[in-house]
Amino acid sequence: MFEELRKLDVRPAPFSVYTAQQLWDDDHISRQMLAMHLDPDVEPASRRSAFIDTSVEWIVRHFDVGPGTRIADFGCGPGLYTTPFAQRGAEVTGIDWSRRSIAHARKTAERSRLKIDYTLTNYLTYESDKRFDLATLIYCDYCALSPTQRQHFLHVIRQHLAPGGRLLFDVFSQTAFASHQETATFGLNFMNHFWSKYEYIGFQRTWRYEAESVALDLYAIVTEEQVRLIYNWLQYFSLESIRSELMENGFTVVEQFADVTGQDYTSEATEIAIVAEAN
Ligand SMILES: C[S@@+](CC[C@H](N)C(=O)[O-])C[C@H]1O[C@@H](n2cnc3c(N)ncnc32)[C@H](O)[C@@H]1O
Repeated sequence: MFEELRKLDVRPAPFSVYTAQQLWDDDHISRQMLAMHLDPDVEPASRRSAFIDTSVEWIVRHFDVGPGTRIADFGCGPGLYTTPFAQRGAEVTGIDWSRRSIAHARKTAERSRLKIDYTLTNYLTYESDKRFDLATLIYCDYCALSPTQRQHFLHVIRQHLAPGGRLLFDVFSQTAFASHQETATFGLNFMNHFWSKYEYIGFQRTWRYEAESVALDLYAIVTEEQVRLIYNWLQYFSLESIRSELMENGFTVVEQFADVTGQDYTSEATEIAIVAEAN
């Protein structure tokens, strides 16, 4: 246990460990996540429902979503975007690795008599013969990926966009990075049993990597049996850095906004929403 807890106090190399699947697919944690996705007033898993409604309306208008539009939503969660897209007549595919979220999304589609193709997989390895007019990755999930994983992701998107197809995604900006402070904190059943239904001591250590514009929230969950470490990485972008990353991977940014409701981009915005096309 000493060795595991020591890791809390040693700054790991950026993106050196990837534990994101535990966060979304662990039986207990995914239950908490699903409850948060479905709570209209809670943010960490999905945005508030009022925002999502506005976002869906904007996406439908901006990308002319309607009967026959082929959409792939990467990291679709329980279907908060895929469901309304399908209700507009779009041919929708949702991709996510959370068994609990995909089960919920499938049930919702069945109940609403919507034909949505849900695929339970790691989106970094998604393969299909389908081609899409629009691919989405919403709620800054791109920021949780390492530079190499982002290359893989963009490669997957290139493979699956139809000619003229577009990618819409959002990232956290440098403005948001400024408020991600280094902290160290702990508590009994820290975050109200979010990490385990059993008794535990939870530690959170937040590191900032100034040169790389990266932050890490590292959690250690100590139960009688084990110590689990969960690494939540976030890459922050400027408009220039996301533009050049896309360019290096064969994409051109065709539009930018302050968020996925289509607000005008400003350098003070905490997010940047990007519309890109493959070259
Ligand atoms: C922050 S949530 C956003 C969900 C949804 N886009 C929304 O805005 O309501 C991120 C989602 O991406 C999924 N996810 C994260 N990394 C993934 C990966 N490598 N492969 C598949 N799904 C992933 C998670 O399971 C989770 O459902």
